[in-house]
Amino acid sequence: MIECEKITKVYRTGDVEIEVLKGLSFRIEKGEFVAVMGPSGSGKSTLMHILGALDGPTSGVYRLDGHDVSKLSDDELADVRMNKIGFVFQSFNLLSRSTVLRNVMLPLMYAGVPEDKRRTQAEKALRSASLGEDRWHHLSNQLSGGQMQRVAIARALVNNPSIILADEPTGNLDSKTGEVVLGTFQELNNKHHHTIVLITHEPYVAEHAERIIHIQDGMILEDNKNHHRRMVHNHNEL
Ligand SMILES: Nc1ncnc2c1ncn2[C@@H]1O[C@H](COP(=O)(O)OP(=O)(O)O)[C@@H](O)[C@H]1O
Ligand SMILES: [Mg+2]
Repeated sequence: MIECEKITKVYRTGDVEIEVLKGLSFRIEKGEFVAVMGPSGSGKSTLMHILGALDGPTSGVYRLDGHDVSKLSDDELADVRMNKIGFVFQSFNLLSRSTVLRNVMLPLMYAGVPEDKRRTQAEKALRSASLGEDRWHHLSNQLSGGQMQRVAIARALVNNPSIILADEPTGNLDSKTGEVVLGTFQELNNKHHHTIVLITHEPYVAEHAERIIHIQDGMILEDNKNHHRRMVHNHNEL
């Protein structure tokens, strides 16, 4: 599903060039739950932008479902970003003065889905993200951090994407709440078979994934199955 072949990324600022990614090759199959772990500045967000088709590599090939992403037309790229990939960020990025339900329905409005269908799909996504129905009509700024992240997860799910890309999704949460949110991802992966790429600088967070790709200085240091996976059982408590 995801295939990276010798991906590099060079940023130029003025006369200075920095090679942030130095030839990454890996595959992620449908239904996997993979953590990409590395210290701050190691190129994780840069990689996430490439995987999300938000930016292209400087060299190398990125294939998504067998298609070289650099060869897609603008329309095809927009379709990939809107329908194939769901994004979750550290800072939630919700509209604070809209209700939970409206926040989750929003991507469907851009996709031109009719109102009643927007609502049913949003409700389904909120259930998958385990956000209690009693919160759906709250404004998003009336929620706790963990609940906000569940709304963001529901919003990422609402187009039924095949891949969820989460960049430091527990970075703004206390450790207990972070754990519960990681449990939500585990459930989405186990029960709903979503492919999940979890980006983090924290080994403890990465340990919740089935496989850990460890990057450092723009290269893959290790890529292993995680035999000591931490499972979260109380994922509904927030
Ligand atoms: N748009 C950009 N222009 C120039 N340098 C960038 C840009 N984006 C990121 N960088 C640099 O690339 C390196 C990796 O950044 P990033 O991918 O955000 O790392 P991480 O997410 O692992 O912390 C950092 O040194 C950062 O300053
Ligand atoms: Mg980052």
